[in-house]
Amino acid sequence: LGGGVETQSITEFYGEFGTGKSQICQQLCVTVQLPYEHGGLDGGALYVDTENTFRPERIMQIAPRFNLDPEDVLKKIIFAEAYTSNHQVVLLENADEVIKDGDIRLIVVDSVTSHFRSEYIGRELLAPRQQELNRHLHKLIRMSRAFNTAVVVTNQVMAQPDAFFAKVVQPVGGHVMGHTSHTRVFLRKGRDNLRIAKLVVSPFLPEGETPLRITERGVEGEEDI
Ligand code: GTP
Ligand code: MG
Repeated sequence: LGGGVETQSITEFYGEFGTGKSQICQQLCVTVQLPYEHGGLDGGALYVDTENTFRPERIMQIAPRFNLDPEDVLKKIIFAEAYTSNHQVVLLENADEVIKDGDIRLIVVDSVTSHFRSEYIGRELLAPRQQELNRHLHKLIRMSRAFNTAVVVTNQVMAQPDAFFAKVVQPVGGHVMGHTSHTRVFLRKGRDNLRIAKLVVSPFLPEGETPLRITERGVEGEEDI
């Protein structure tokens, strides 16, 4: 990613279940706390969880790898569970104070689309769903600029209906997601339990792929594998 996730923009990780989206998000909540000279932003994280997958134990397990104190790291993560899409929207609309007070430099929404997808079902609700999702994503962009934070969202994939022979998947959220995520990374499972991260869209980098491995230390890149 050319040094990490960008501030003042949205980075989207999408892929099938178990590809490491939530693992990456949790690790970013640790690494954002690193000092600038070690690649961090010396700030806290706000984690909006829609799927109940955030695990404090996992954070505490990852922290020592980056020479950070697990308890301290946990204290600088503000966690909120969103129960519905509307709740998710309201949580972020009321997060300004929390972001300022908590010195938040990373906002995670994991997953940004799941509630919208499960609540707005059927053709006739597609337009209102996309409208609401669009509004939500633009709010996130405004927040990232106002507070100079990184915004990281996760997204699921669905099988492409017209792909008959090969298994082709595409991210949920259609053009709305596609136009608002500045950086998009597709995660898929590879051989030997590896994950492959593919940079699909970036404002300044070419397409590229890199292997990842999920271990007890967190998500490890090529240099660690
Ligand atoms: P969905 O949210 O279901 O779409 O999936 P996801 O992409 O968010 O997957 P997630 O990030 O939850 O990754 C799950 C994978 O991480 C599983 O394959 C787990 O085996 C692996 N994993 C999670 N915790 C650990 C751990 O402590 N050690 C190891 N080695 N692997 C772990
Ligand atoms: Mg997940």
